[in-house]
Amino acid sequence: MPKPVLISGVQPTGQLHIGNYLGALKNFVDLQNSGKYQCYFFIADLHALTENPEAKDLKVNIMNLAADFLAAGLNPKKSIIFQQSQVGFTQELKWILSTLTPVSELLRMTAFKEKILQPLKAGEAEKITKEKFDEIVEKSNFGLAEYPVLMAADILLYNAESVPVGEDQLQHLEFARTLARKFNRKFGQTFIEPKAILTEVPRLMSLDDPFKKMSKSMPTGCLFLDDSEKIIREKIKRAVTDSGNEIKYDIKNKPAISNLIKIYQALSGETIKKIENKFKNKGYGDFKKDLAEIIIDYIVPFQKRKKQLKTQSQKIKKILETGAKEARIVAQATMGEVKRKIGLID
Ligand code: ADP
Ligand code: TRP
Repeated sequence: MPKPVLISGVQPTGQLHIGNYLGALKNFVDLQNSGKYQCYFFIADLHALTENPEAKDLKVNIMNLAADFLAAGLNPKKSIIFQQSQVGFTQELKWILSTLTPVSELLRMTAFKEKILQPLKAGEAEKITKEKFDEIVEKSNFGLAEYPVLMAADILLYNAESVPVGEDQLQHLEFARTLARKFNRKFGQTFIEPKAILTEVPRLMSLDDPFKKMSKSMPTGCLFLDDSEKIIREKIKRAVTDSGNEIKYDIKNKPAISNLIKIYQALSGETIKKIENKFKNKGYGDFKKDLAEIIIDYIVPFQKRKKQLKTQSQKIKKILETGAKEARIVAQATMGEVKRKIGLID
């Protein structure tokens, strides 16, 4: 019996933060090592083009993300690791899926709206008029609107059942399920409807503001996997806390400390109860000191592996080439079936 397929991608748009790690990358490694799936992990370089990067930056980010993947524990002997743009079939499928997609559905996507409204000043997005919003939509790049169709193609091309992602990607995944259903209804059973796999930390919040997601677009609230020990200690020390001084997991009344407890829990493997007990008669300062050391103990070995990998760019390129070759074989077979079903070929 072939194993069920699992796929996920990450955009090469800058350094990874601990939210990306706890919401996605750490889980990629655990799922790979479970041996239950045929795994595909890719660098979503075509998606990154929606941010119009400089060529030299994109190149650096692609190699950096590949090193992140490998240093975190993704293994080319167990998983197919590749660069999205090296499988041209993705864009063929994207076109076909786009003909089944109403434009209005794309313009309603939360991630699209957030992205196009990002340049506005704080507070302006909430008060925007319909006319102003439409004007911004008309000027936005078309790739941002099409983003979820390309993502659906990434997933459906390999007939993936499972997609490990953070919570912010759930709407895109629901859209991929809808497209699979639509295609199947019109042309006969072809695609599996993919399901998300979330971690215990599907939405880590910013260190600056426990009501905003930790995101590369707001670097001040991020703890990056490449941060030095000194910076990690400083950032954790500076992280916002709630009123009171008790270390207690309570998302509603103590969102900031609860967010930090989540990091502690995910990296130490200890239960929330145990963490609360450990810091029963202690304050935020003690907790934060301990948390910084836990993060450092976890991240330093990762950084060492990454540093070593960065001296081996030829080896990394080879891994990506081999991965793309393997991915293309599967993608080509799917596209053959799709083209037959929709009447392009016999
Ligand atoms: P960002 O939002 O920081 O630009 P990406 O879109 O590149 O991150 O996300 C890469 C992966 O990390 C995705 O699966 C995404 O859902 C997940 N992710 C991003 N931010 C977080 C977060 N704050 N908490 C948990 N998972 C996250
Ligand atoms: N949109 C995802 C993100 O921003 C990246 C991505 C692209 C992806 N294609 C995918 C994730 C397919 C899972 C499956 O993080």
